[in-house]
Amino acid sequence: MEEWDGGDIEPTPELPLEIIIYILSFLHTSDRKEAALVCSRWYTASQDLQFQRNVTFCFPASASSLELIRNLGRKQRCRLIISQLDGFSMSRPLLQEVGICLGSKLESLALPGSSITEASLLALLPRLTALRRLDLRGLDSLFMSGAFLSREEHRKQVKSALSGLEELDLSDLRYLSDLTFNRLTGCTPHLRRLSLAGCHIAFEFDPYRGCPAGSVENSSALLSLRNLRRLLTEQKSTLVAVDLSRTSISPESLRTISQVQGLVLEELCLQGCKELTDYSVEVLVKHQPALQRLDISACTELTSRSVEAVARGLRTLTHLSLSRDWRITEKGLADLLSLPTLKSVDLSECLHVSGTEIVKGLKGSGAAGAQLECLNLKNCTYIRDFAVFSVTQLLGDSLRELDLTLCVNVTDLSVRSIATYLQRLVVLRLGWCKEITDWGLLGMVETTICEPDQEMQADKGPRFTGTFGIMGFFKPPRLPFDERPKLVTQDDLEQFKEQAGASLLALSRLQELDLSACPKITDSSVTQVVRYPDLQRLSLSMLPEISDASLVSVARHCRSLTSLALSYCPGISDRGLAQAAPYLHRLQHLHLSCCDNITDRSLSLLVQHCSRLRTLDISRCSKISATSADLLQSQLPFLENMHCQFIGGADPTAAAL
Ligand SMILES: *[C@@H]1O[C@H](CO)[C@@H](O)[C@H](O)[C@H]1NC(C)=O
Ligand SMILES: *[C@@H]1O[C@H](CO)[C@@H](O)[C@H](O)[C@H]1NC(C)=O
Ligand SMILES: *[C@@H]1O[C@H](CO)[C@@H](O)[C@H](O)[C@H]1NC(C)=O
Ligand SMILES: *[C@@H]1O[C@H](CO)[C@@H](O)[C@H](O)[C@H]1NC(C)=O
Ligand SMILES: *[C@@H]1O[C@H](CO)[C@@H](O)[C@H](O)[C@H]1NC(C)=O
Repeated sequence: MEEWDGGDIEPTPELPLEIIIYILSFLHTSDRKEAALVCSRWYTASQDLQFQRNVTFCFPASASSLELIRNLGRKQRCRLIISQLDGFSMSRPLLQEVGICLGSKLESLALPGSSITEASLLALLPRLTALRRLDLRGLDSLFMSGAFLSREEHRKQVKSALSGLEELDLSDLRYLSDLTFNRLTGCTPHLRRLSLAGCHIAFEFDPYRGCPAGSVENSSALLSLRNLRRLLTEQKSTLVAVDLSRTSISPESLRTISQVQGLVLEELCLQGCKELTDYSVEVLVKHQPALQRLDISACTELTSRSVEAVARGLRTLTHLSLSRDWRITEKGLADLLSLPTLKSVDLSECLHVSGTEIVKGLKGSGAAGAQLECLNLKNCTYIRDFAVFSVTQLLGDSLRELDLTLCVNVTDLSVRSIATYLQRLVVLRLGWCKEITDWGLLGMVETTICEPDQEMQADKGPRFTGTFGIMGFFKPPRLPFDERPKLVTQDDLEQFKEQAGASLLALSRLQELDLSACPKITDSSVTQVVRYPDLQRLSLSMLPEISDASLVSVARHCRSLTSLALSYCPGISDRGLAQAAPYLHRLQHLHLSCCDNITDRSLSLLVQHCSRLRTLDISRCSKISATSADLLQSQLPFLENMHCQFIGGADPTAAAL
């Protein structure tokens, strides 16, 4: 498909549909969508049920969505996210249409950013007999009056439709009370997952009555702990996942919840519950040992005692987030990382973590440690090459996602070890790793000797001549460690330092790459290694050295790009964009903030070639005029977010006054 330019080539009309479907089944979803545009037979093939099973349709409410909903009626199952439904003209007929066309097919419904009325929703819910997931997040308009589902006949209708509902999201509802909560959950007796994130739950005292929340009637003003506990007890046989993030849950309340007889939680999310203490995590772990996913990020009181408790108590843990728990140190991480079930650990912004104990834990004591798939060490500034080198060697088979953003002391050595050992990586973030240079990306050992065929331009980084490509410097050379090493020593690192490794080109499965704010990176490496057929998201923002050559090369070699960030790259100009845009027709998000060599001319190219843009940031572009920006906005049909503050050289400081 590399050189496919549509139009005149006939795509083998004699192939039977089943064969085309079979071929399409090997493509990524985004590639399949492109293939559907080739001809009507390919389109028909792409509509096969096996590709439609898990598709969510997401659109804002408008007159044209009525037609879309009618068309969806032909599907067997369907999921919808309809945004911006207001209380007036459009939403009532739209929801009615959903009920009529999709009533028995809709599996999942979310209505974000809406202000619908109770009457509109009640006209719909009784028809949704196949619904498994309902997301009412932030729909204050439904709950403000307190009358939602107050009539018995409505409750009966809703209950007979929603008795199979498994997942209910009630997060960020300011007006949820015991009464409305009970009426709604009374219609959904078999919940598996419940979210109350960001709700005002009265955990200890009822501020309106000045007495403990545990001893009063069901309240019409508040959701109380006592009542939540009642629900957990009633639905304990099905409930496995609860989200109480951003609530003021106290240690005592968490104990109450985790001790509910017969409740066996597999997932618990407590993000940003700032009152929780180590003691509460110890109690939780004792009473809910089957937890597989635990998010205790931004619980700022927690220390390494919590890490130790989790490592000791949760023997089947797969996902843990400790992000922003800044008191956490290395202590306990070795035990945690030797849990063989662990797949994902988020330690971002745990500022004291240096990686030593992570490495110790991964090596395991004889037996293998965790086979991590996802490791986030963002802003762990004490992480150094030795830790990265060891982690890459130990996790070569499993790691898919690695975030080293802001690990400022990581150097080229780390980049080479990533490229050499982590060839299954799908997501790599190296933003703000300021020491990284072209040498690291190219997998080469920096030479201080000036070689004759290498024109060194004063302080501009290495300039590589064409012969390097022919020498195949990006082929990984044989490495000293063919087997997974038992122990990585400082000697190994020294040895590794001496030799060239694989270039970043080896990470052929990458779908996301962030190299922003690594100011030493130049065209020399970007044009050679950023060549990934599956790459969807790329950030090269804040790279003062890159020029149009990088942009054009990236566009040609990364045909799957949907998101590209080039903000604060003064070297990018209209000329580069003119050559790149024809290859970027899948682009949905483009960031060009503060690119002073981009002018109005580029905007018309975007209209011509990148008609699927949903986000465009051209703020602070001094050579773009407000008139052209306005025109552009009317010409891009899918544009949702356009940032165009301070264009045309408007002085931001003057405007701020
Ligand atoms: C369906 O898609 C959602 C996210 O869009 C994903 O979490 C889920 O695992 C998918 N389910 C299946 C059966 O593929
Ligand atoms: C609160 O409501 C629930 C569910 O409707 C009911 O079972 C319970 O008895 C009520 N509690 C009180 C104190 O009225
Ligand atoms: C990184 O950590 C520092 C503290 O060391 C903090 O001030 C900064 O906001 C963090 N940066 C990001 C992007 O999280
Ligand atoms: C990074 O390393 C330098 C020395 O190599 C050291 O002075 C500095 O403190 C380190 N920064 C951090 C955040 O560890
Ligand atoms: C981009 O603009 C800067 C001034 O902001 C100028 O010095 C530079 O030569 C320009 N580069 C290109 C490639 O036009």
